[in-house]
Amino acid sequence: MTAKVQLDFVHRFVPAAPGGPAATLLLLHGTGGDEDDMIPLGRELLPGAALLSPRGRVLEHGMPRFFRRLSMGVFDLEDLKVQTDALEHFVGAASRNYGFEKNQIIAVGYSNGANIAASELLMHPKLLSRAILFRPMIPFRPGQDLDTTTPELKDKPVLVAAARHDQIVPTEQTVELSAILTAAGARVTTHWHPGGHELGSDDVAAAKEWLSRETSAPTI
Ligand code: MLT
Repeated sequence: MTAKVQLDFVHRFVPAAPGGPAATLLLLHGTGGDEDDMIPLGRELLPGAALLSPRGRVLEHGMPRFFRRLSMGVFDLEDLKVQTDALEHFVGAASRNYGFEKNQIIAVGYSNGANIAASELLMHPKLLSRAILFRPMIPFRPGQDLDTTTPELKDKPVLVAAARHDQIVPTEQTVELSAILTAAGARVTTHWHPGGHELGSDDVAAAKEWLSRETSAPTI
């Protein structure tokens, strides 16, 4: 169902199938997407898992996003902070509302959705137990931007699925983001797609393989 209860984001929630995985996937779409976009991918990545799929609250020429940008790849950091806090609050409220485990949330974000997932990792390191970041950029630099310090990610597993010929994300951004996450203590695995910004079947296969490995590991 598409719901707009007292929770601050328009969203869909799909409950776990009986006997399904304990984890809930937090699905975060790219620019111009909505709460429906990532549901099929979520179902494919972890069949039977609960899915929480919010719609970004910022509109750029009518296209939903999770935070404002000033131009391509240049983010409005004040808005990023407001929206990152709001999403964290929403996920907590949704877990109480729908009754899913708060310590078993795996973000699956694509592009702008990957960027807000990375921002959650860096600003609210306890929110996510794991994260899959498809085509992420650096949302902000801890210790440099927004009066932040390096968070403690305590061996948290993160998959960065980047592309060798991404028209939007320069390779150096991927390398630097991985270094930022690693410096914070995350256990980063990188998958390199041979093409561009769009997802390929190899990205999905890599994410499935990573998830099956990481969901059998203890929760962090
Ligand atoms: C962004 O957050 O702006 C993305 O990385 C690029 C996009 O969503 O188009």
